[in-house]
Amino acid sequence: MPALMSTARFLSGIQPSGELHIGNYFGAMRQHIDNQAAGDSFYFIANYHALTTIQDAELLRRNTFDVAASYLAMGLDPQRATLFRQSDVPEVTELTWLLLTVTPMGLLERAVSYKDKVARGLPASAGLFTYPALMAADILAYDSDVVPVGADQVQHVEITRDMAGAFNRTYDAEVFVLPAARLNQAKVVPGVDGQKMSKSYGNGISMFLAGKKLKKRVMSIVTDSTPVEAPKDPDACTVFRLHALFATDDERADLAARYRAGGLGYGDAKKELLAKIDAHFAAGRARYAELQADPSYVEDVLTAGAARARAVARQVVDRARAACGVA
Ligand code: ADP
Ligand code: TRP
Repeated sequence: MPALMSTARFLSGIQPSGELHIGNYFGAMRQHIDNQAAGDSFYFIANYHALTTIQDAELLRRNTFDVAASYLAMGLDPQRATLFRQSDVPEVTELTWLLLTVTPMGLLERAVSYKDKVARGLPASAGLFTYPALMAADILAYDSDVVPVGADQVQHVEITRDMAGAFNRTYDAEVFVLPAARLNQAKVVPGVDGQKMSKSYGNGISMFLAGKKLKKRVMSIVTDSTPVEAPKDPDACTVFRLHALFATDDERADLAARYRAGGLGYGDAKKELLAKIDAHFAAGRARYAELQADPSYVEDVLTAGAARARAVARQVVDRARAACGVA
């Protein structure tokens, strides 16, 4: 990949669909935070998208706040990255309509995420169907260059490029920047049952779980019945795979050797993992508790972020309005 110019705009959206788990942390959040200095980073909480699944006002407000507080607690620096709520930038919904008018039905009909969600039982609302147009507006409104996403969202970025191209061609104008997806390379983090950790499978370990609750969760990780003395295959063990996320290369090699040598029981391996998780999130957990006690700081960050984001979006949407003749 060519080196990115320092001015490249990175943008990603995070749905506020529940407590973040350590799969979300290693799979997405950590990259977002690490990237904050690499370019001009915009991160927003996709609360409009979440309305396709959460229809409880208080819950949505709480989840939205919690995601913002989690990012800040884990080191997102609002001076370097712009953190905001999707719904605080009305230009995005304005742009969604402009994009829909140049979007062939077939483009949305091919979106696999819609079909998957309906197959899993979500109501087939028009909002869910047009979800990719709202996501395209999220991306295009800020002239985003790079969109870091998980594999399931890559098609949505492709759809965004198609919509941007369709608009530019229809009005014979270079209104939108064509963004590129950047696939998060993180390994899939397993849940306590060994399947992919996911909110929808109920197998997650929440990032800020502590004390007895964290212990209980870690102790519930499913292992096989190999006796303590027997040699064990580290790669087949969920406890090891989780531990590896927190370990240095040397620590990982050392632990793998102890698995293979035999004599390490799963109970002890779990205790070591527990200590790692506890230590890794200790500072963030404390900061998270402070932010929960002082919601006004989080609100101020989101308000300032929205002002910065809106200033960009207004210009882009005005460009689009002028091109299509509604301004
Ligand atoms: P969930 O499956 O819990 O609903 P989301 O689909 O909301 O999680 O994912 C939010 C982000 O976290 C995405 O970028 C996704 O790639 C990442 N993510 C979620 N679960 C995992 C996992 N088990 N391993 C790695 N990354 C994950
Ligand atoms: N659809 C994304 C998800 O479910 C969230 C999202 C909304 C997003 N708008 C975006 C991600 C724009 C990247 C860019 O994870």
